[in-house]
Amino acid sequence: MDQAERLRQLVWKQQTAPTVLKAKNKSRVITVTSGKGGVGKTSLVVNLAIALSLLGKRVMVLDADLGLANVDIMLGLLPQHTLHDVVRGTKSLADIALDGPAEIRLLPGGSGLSELADLGEKQRKALIDKLAALEESADILLIDTGAGLSRTVLSFVAAADEMLLITTPEPTAIRDAYGMVKVAATQQLQQKIGLVVNLISSEREGKEIAERLLTVSQQFLQVELQYLGGIRADAHVVTAVKQQQPFYLHSPRCRAAGNIRQIAGALLSLPPEQPRGFSGFFNRLAQLWDKV
Ligand SMILES: Nc1ncnc2c1ncn2[C@@H]1O[C@H](COP(=O)(O)OP(=O)(O)OP(=O)(O)O)[C@@H](O)[C@H]1O
Ligand SMILES: [Mg+2]
Repeated sequence: MDQAERLRQLVWKQQTAPTVLKAKNKSRVITVTSGKGGVGKTSLVVNLAIALSLLGKRVMVLDADLGLANVDIMLGLLPQHTLHDVVRGTKSLADIALDGPAEIRLLPGGSGLSELADLGEKQRKALIDKLAALEESADILLIDTGAGLSRTVLSFVAAADEMLLITTPEPTAIRDAYGMVKVAATQQLQQKIGLVVNLISSEREGKEIAERLLTVSQQFLQVELQYLGGIRADAHVVTAVKQQQPFYLHSPRCRAAGNIRQIAGALLSLPPEQPRGFSGFFNRLAQLWDKV
């Protein structure tokens, strides 16, 4: 290596090091949601979390479906406590977090998330500081939400760094997915939106549906969706759900698992420019709920 090359490398390192370090420190917070219910959000969250973990990322899952929390059921876990107990002060975050398969961790939200808003300022800040500290042990926070345009779900969408939208080929699901993009765009809640089409019968079907959604979103809402991939309708998924196991581990060779692997890769290749991390996320969430 000649001297000029060494110098170039040194300059390059100095220029890039601070940004690389900064990006590394902040976790990526992703809200998974859908317009229509029952399209495969929880299934995606659980299996994607495992795939990302096996790719070397430290992943935490927040079950924020306030009505029907069921990440735990799909993982075969039995949470004894939720964030509600942390908000009440009877448990610590360490007490409620559960170890899942493939080293993923689950944070059961319960009613605790909505109770953040009821806390006094001092207590809330103390809790948000504790939640923010989870940043140290996670690269990615995946949030499972309920379906539809409720205020709660939209606040998760707005507070996260990005949104992962899932639909199926059913016309009603596609229409509701578009409705979700429309609200996210027109209310300026979220610009970074990834798309997954579940229950497809061919890659082509997934691509065609994505193409349609991408085109109308760009044309009418000026939003660029990113198609991350499709997931086949696969009997292995149903078998695994019945056994309360993630299909990614139960049948790693099935088509749906292959699809999840691809989606995980696509997601990692599209990082957000400036993730806000856990502290940014929980602070924003508390602010949004404050106004309600
Ligand atoms: N790729 C797939 N192939 C076959 N079956 C699937 C697939 N994805 C999901 N399912 C089935 O659909 C069911 C519903 O999925 P899931 O619970 O993940 O949906 P959801 O969007 O989280 O629902 P909700 O809106 O009620 O939270 C699963 O229990 C599973 O049996
Ligand atoms: Mg669900």
